[in-house]
Amino acid sequence: MLVDTYGRVATDLRVSLTDRCNLRCTYCMPEEGMQWLAKPDLLTDDEIVRLIRIAVTDLGVTDVRFTGGEPLLRPGLVGIVERCAALLPRPKLSLTTNGIGLGRTAAALRAAGLDRVNVSLDTLRPDVFHTLTRRNRHQDVLDGLDAARAAGLAPVKVNSVLMRGVNDDEAPELLRWALAEGYELRFIEQMPLDAQHGWQRTDMVTAEEILGALRTRFTLTAEGEPARGHAPAERWLVDGGPARVGVIASVTRPFCRACDRTRLTADGQVRNCLFAREESDLRGALRSGAPDHEVAARWKAAMWGKKAGSGLDDPAFLQPDRPMSAIGG
Ligand code: GTP
Ligand code: 5AD
Ligand code: SF4
Repeated sequence: MLVDTYGRVATDLRVSLTDRCNLRCTYCMPEEGMQWLAKPDLLTDDEIVRLIRIAVTDLGVTDVRFTGGEPLLRPGLVGIVERCAALLPRPKLSLTTNGIGLGRTAAALRAAGLDRVNVSLDTLRPDVFHTLTRRNRHQDVLDGLDAARAAGLAPVKVNSVLMRGVNDDEAPELLRWALAEGYELRFIEQMPLDAQHGWQRTDMVTAEEILGALRTRFTLTAEGEPARGHAPAERWLVDGGPARVGVIASVTRPFCRACDRTRLTADGQVRNCLFAREESDLRGALRSGAPDHEVAARWKAAMWGKKAGSGLDDPAFLQPDRPMSAIGG
């Protein structure tokens, strides 16, 4: 098991498959992109599958989510999913993507064993999409969502980050759309994980503001603590349900006490928290010929050092050295 000194058990593994992305969301990376990881530094498909196997068979991981950057840019994705779906016990497999390319790949991913997808979409307006992501790909995302739903990747969740003065007037509109399409919408508070270090608390659209805006058009009923479980999203029934809307308030209502996550970066480093300042090198262990039990021991040691929380409320808070795109959201 992956346990920490606060008694939390990590059963949910998030694996970043690449740090690259085909969008340039302003809250994530600069226009010119990043200094991408070099190919030899990336884990190979075999190394990724081996680490996931160790996590699932030796360390009690039950859920595996593929992230990026943009994970659909990883050429071997379908094969990786297929091999993970063959592991025993079979982990639940999910993907967090910007949706571009899902139109082509959703059916193959489903056939390979992917259970569900979360797609990022912050706006329903193509011009705002262009401003926010610096790319003209709005329709590709909508097509990707359609394909995911048609392929039976259920439930399809949509993640929206609201930016003040950009798309913060769209909350009710996004919810109306998601309800009509049958997607589960979650709003996310913007976190200080952008490469440019431009995040400011005062600029952030808070969960309270989002809920206030939604309540002008909908009746929201809290699902309550037990329903949240380990999930970062708090959920509300919309107009009596069964449809729901979620808010991931990592800044104003952190879920660190219930956190069940462990992370693997595309270059094979374990992170025990999104906001951790240390990483633990599993790629080095793999490439120096370490046996499974030694890799597992390193992973356990990395998780044992997990801090109580993100430290976001500490006046001395320092953003992690790597941005979200390199950590894997
Ligand atoms: P499910 O609820 O299982 O569908 O997944 P999820 O919401 O955990 O995953 P997703 O990849 O869609 O992430 C949604 C948002 O939650 C993103 O902004 C993530 O960065 C954020 N998030 C995921 N894990 C953590 C975490 O451990 N800590 C914090 N603070 N935020 C997280
Ligand atoms: N704060 C909050 N959410 C973010 N995402 C990317 N960068 C940030 C940030 N700085 C979101 C993406 C995607 C998910 C993985 O995280 O929009 O939906
Ligand atoms: Fe790409 Fe996701 Fe970053 Fe947007 S938030 S640039 S989709 S990695």
